[in-house]
Order: sequence, then C-alpha cells, then structure tokens
Amino acid sequence: MCGIIGYVGFRNAREILLEGLKRLDYRGYDSAGIGLISDKLIVYKEVGEIEKLEKQVPAINTTAGIGHTRWATHGGVTKANAHPHTDCKKKIAVVHNGIIENFKELREELINRGHKFTSDTDTEVVAHLVEEAYDGCLEKAVSSAIKKLKGSYALAFVSKDEPDKIVAARKESPLVIGVGDNEYFVASDIPAFLKYTNRVIYIEDGEKCILSRKGVKIFDENDKEIEKDINVVDWSIEEAEKAGFSHYMLKEIYEQPRSIADSFRGRIYEKEPHVTLNVDVEVPESITIVACGTSFYAGLAGKYMFEEIADIPTKTELSSEYRYLGRKDETGLIIAISQSGETADTLAAVRGAKKYGCKVLAITNVVGSSLTRIADYTILTRCGPEIGVAATKTFTAQLLMLLMLALDMGLKKGTIEDARVEEYITHIKKLPSYIQYVLNRNEEIKRIAEEIKDKETVFFIGRGINYPLALEGALKLKEISYIHAEGFAAGELKHGPFALLTEETPVVAVVARDKTYEKMLANIREVKARNSPVVAIADEKDMDVESYVDEVIRYPVTPPVISCIPIAVVLQLLAYHAANLRGCPIDKPRNLAKSVTVE
Ligand code: F6R
Repeated sequence: MCGIIGYVGFRNAREILLEGLKRLDYRGYDSAGIGLISDKLIVYKEVGEIEKLEKQVPAINTTAGIGHTRWATHGGVTKANAHPHTDCKKKIAVVHNGIIENFKELREELINRGHKFTSDTDTEVVAHLVEEAYDGCLEKAVSSAIKKLKGSYALAFVSKDEPDKIVAARKESPLVIGVGDNEYFVASDIPAFLKYTNRVIYIEDGEKCILSRKGVKIFDENDKEIEKDINVVDWSIEEAEKAGFSHYMLKEIYEQPRSIADSFRGRIYEKEPHVTLNVDVEVPESITIVACGTSFYAGLAGKYMFEEIADIPTKTELSSEYRYLGRKDETGLIIAISQSGETADTLAAVRGAKKYGCKVLAITNVVGSSLTRIADYTILTRCGPEIGVAATKTFTAQLLMLLMLALDMGLKKGTIEDARVEEYITHIKKLPSYIQYVLNRNEEIKRIAEEIKDKETVFFIGRGINYPLALEGALKLKEISYIHAEGFAAGELKHGPFALLTEETPVVAVVARDKTYEKMLANIREVKARNSPVVAIADEKDMDVESYVDEVIRYPVTPPVISCIPIAVVLQLLAYHAANLRGCPIDKPRNLAKSVTVE
C-alpha cells in the first residue's frame, strides 16, 4: 500500500508534495520521491522517512509535480526502486500504488525492444510503455499503455513536453481529486491535500483524468469525457487519515476485501502452476511454525492446513518457548510468522533455529524488516501498514499465505488433486466478496456486541481449524475491550472450564459444517445445559444450529479452510464493537505496543 500525490496550480509544488507525502506516510514509508516539472523533469528519491527526502530536495520553485511514498512489494527498499520511475529518455515520470501482475512479461518484451531498466519494480514497465506510445499527447499514451496492464493501479504521470499537465488513472487502487481554485490535486487519499481544499471528486475503476491549471477532465474506460459530482468533506485531517472511520482498527477491518486481494494478486492461477509465491523452498519433511500472539494463532491454523493439504507433520510453537524445547529438526523447515518482522521473541527463535542448520521462511508484512534479513526465504503479506495495535488485516493475510503455501507444497508432493486445488483457487478469488458479506452484517454484529459488552467473562470455542480462530477471537476481545475472554477447543470445556460457566458467561461458538459439526453441536448443548447464552458463528445455510443457540452470526458457505478468513472478520467486528461500546482506546490499548522488540 503506497501513497501517491500530484499537484498542478500556482503554489510551490515542492512544499505541497512533501507535505502531502507526510500526510500519506501511514500508507507506507520505506522510501519516497518526488518529480518536479517545469522546462525540465527533476526527480529526487530517498530511502527512509520523508524528512530525509526533504533535506535532499533543493528549494526549487515549480508549480507542478508528482510524489510517492513507498511500501515495497516488488523489489527491495533501495533508492533505485523508490518512485517516481522514468522512461529511457527521462522525459516521462510515473508514480504508482498497486501491483502490476504481468510486469515480468512486459519487462522482457520491453527489454527485447531496447528499453533500459534501472529498478526491480513492477512500476517501471509503465513508464516505458507510455514512452513507446507517446507522440506528444500524454493522455493518449497513458490510455494505450494501461490497456496492456493486468493488476491494480492508481497511477499519476507527468511529461517534460507537457509541463502543465498531470494524467492519472485508476483500477482497484484508491484515487481522489482535490478541486481548488486554479489548482488541482490528485492523491491516494484525501489527507494529502485537505489543508488546501475539501472539495473532492472520487475516481472510479477504469476512469482517467487530466489535471491542468484550467481544470480537471475525467474520462471513462472508453475515453469518453464524463461529468462527476464534487463532494464536500467536512473531516478534520485526523478523521480523514482514518477515511472517516472512528478508529484505525475499524478502517483496517474494512480494508480487508482489498488487502486480501492484494495478498493473492498475481500469485494464483486456475491452471498450473496454480500458486507462485516466488520462494524456491523445497517441500520439507516436517514444519515447525514459530510466532507470537495473533501470528501464533495463524500458525496454529497453518498446522491444520499443512497436515491436511500437504500431509506434512507440523508443530506450531510460541517463539518465546521454542528455545526451551529440546529437539530441533534441521531437515525440517521453520516458518516464522510476524506482522512486524521485528518481534524480539520470534527473531530469537529464528536465530536459535539457524544455529541448528534449519532453513527459515518468513511470512511478514514488512519488507526489509529484521526477520526478512535473517530468513532464507520471505513471503510478504502485502497488506500495507497496520496502525491499530490489534492485528486484523495482517492476520487474514497470514492465514491466506499459509493456505497458498500448503497448496503449493501439496501440489509438489502430489497429496492434493488438481481439481481440488482449482476449487480452492476459485474460492480464494472470491474472498473479497466473502469478507464483504460479513462486513455487510456489521449492524447485526454490533447488536450482539451490546449483549456481551458488560459481561465479566466471555468464552470462545471451536474445533479443528476453528479452534485457533476461537483463541484469536478471545485475544482480540480481551486486548481491546479489557473483558476477560478465553478461547478453548470445544472438547476441552468438560475437562475443567465448565466449572466457570454461569448464565452470565456468554459463549461464542465457531461452527463449521465439516467433520467437527456433530461434536460441536453436542458441545453447544452441554453449554446450554449450564444456562450460558450461546452466540454461534455459522454458515448461512446451517439452519439446524438455530434451535440450539441464542444468536447466530452468519458467514458465507465455503470450504472450511477458506471460511477461517470471513470468520476472523466476524470476530474482529465483535471485539471492536464491544470495546467501542465500552469507550476503550481501541487503537492503543493500555500496556500494549504494536511491535514488541523486547524478549
Ligand atoms: C494482537 C497482536 C499481537 C501480535 C504479536 C506478534 O492483536 O497484534 O498479539 O500478533 O505481538 O506480533 P508480530 O506479528 O508483529 O510478530
């Protein structure tokens, strides 16, 4: 998730762009750059925070330009990979947020036609494609170039030969125009220009726009000019950074249809090879997953995936305990899961494993993090920065990466048939709509959160792959609402926890119509026999469950492994609303930090 900005008007573009980038740095901040345009195109880039870039850019007074703050997905964190990217003649510059899925083929074709590349990014192909199509009209060249792109993009271009113009285009990545008086802005998000104007035009998929000092023109995907409404936003900058949501956590929950699509984009296919995660890891004899907190629960779910799909014996260990465990298997693969890539316990576990000669695969959201530097292989979850302390979008992406890795290994090992993989791929592609199905039930989930918000204790139960989901549901609730919550394997209640059940202890039961179904219903009946209220999270076609429980929250019918992801979203919303109704500081719960860098 990167941030882009463009400005054309009468003010100093250097100031506007740098200021806008600072406002967008919540979208990513590993490197940044700006391209200023007058009679020449001048590009400045720097690794690190925007302030470092600011020190490097001299006080040039131009009144148009584009800028970018990067969160790496293709290519490491280097100055060469920072945006803007330019064509061979350094006449055209582009900034991009999104992922170009077919960049490898395009890059090869362009190199064969003599283009010289200076970065490892997917974006640079776009600059060269525009260069090829350019005959003095930037919008025409952009129109022709983007027809060749597969993937997602919000793009903004400038050309040295048309210094008063910015052309921008959008497909599946956010893009919004700011309308001032004789000045215009284009950006990934409103905070980038809100100080100057609160009049905005939302650009939709397939639309393109041309900004100049004279105004904005917008075109549909057939290049026909269209009229669009100007909306007035009355948000403060702080509210705008949360896109109007009351907390970052809620914004990040709602981002999941997009973040999950970014996670699988360009990595899955209906036909062979089905999954390409670009890690050259051999199928191991065994797997040990190490992680903490929410990432640990993703790892517990991963155990079910690797064992069921790829028939690989898998253990999931808490990073902080791993060092105390005796036998380390150097023929096995260590998978370290960490959103931040900086969790001290996980880094210590990985260093320990490497001493025994184990190979380490990292699943993380942060390119260039300490974990990626120690690991032998890295899979990025590609969610963009997560600001709320409670992990949400990164958890669902971790689940998906584990599933895709299990499918890849299962295929290589021959433990899963092609047809079943195809079925999984079809469902993975539908995940954004499955998540949206749950988000559409927000009001219903909020109503149920009302019922638990004043309870002292809430239990979460699940079986099979939904046992880790129950643990995660409890963790989410306790960390942000401060309600005491416990997650249990449903079969374990009778071995002790039953003693705590009263009619004041709600039990949230994650129900799946798989091999655990009958046993789960029996467990729910046992709970009801103690008069505890039960909220079931069940699929939309499961009518039987209704007769056993007090409330049902629905998720769409999918294979059980896939359904973990929409179920996780139900649990996130339930925790969010309970905490919000209690007036808790959701984005910064007491005593907790986003990145835990002490052991
Ligand atoms: C809970 C949460 C934490 C983290 C844990 C590990 O919502 O976010 O439990 O999951 O601190 O952090 P990472 O994944 O960065 O290693």
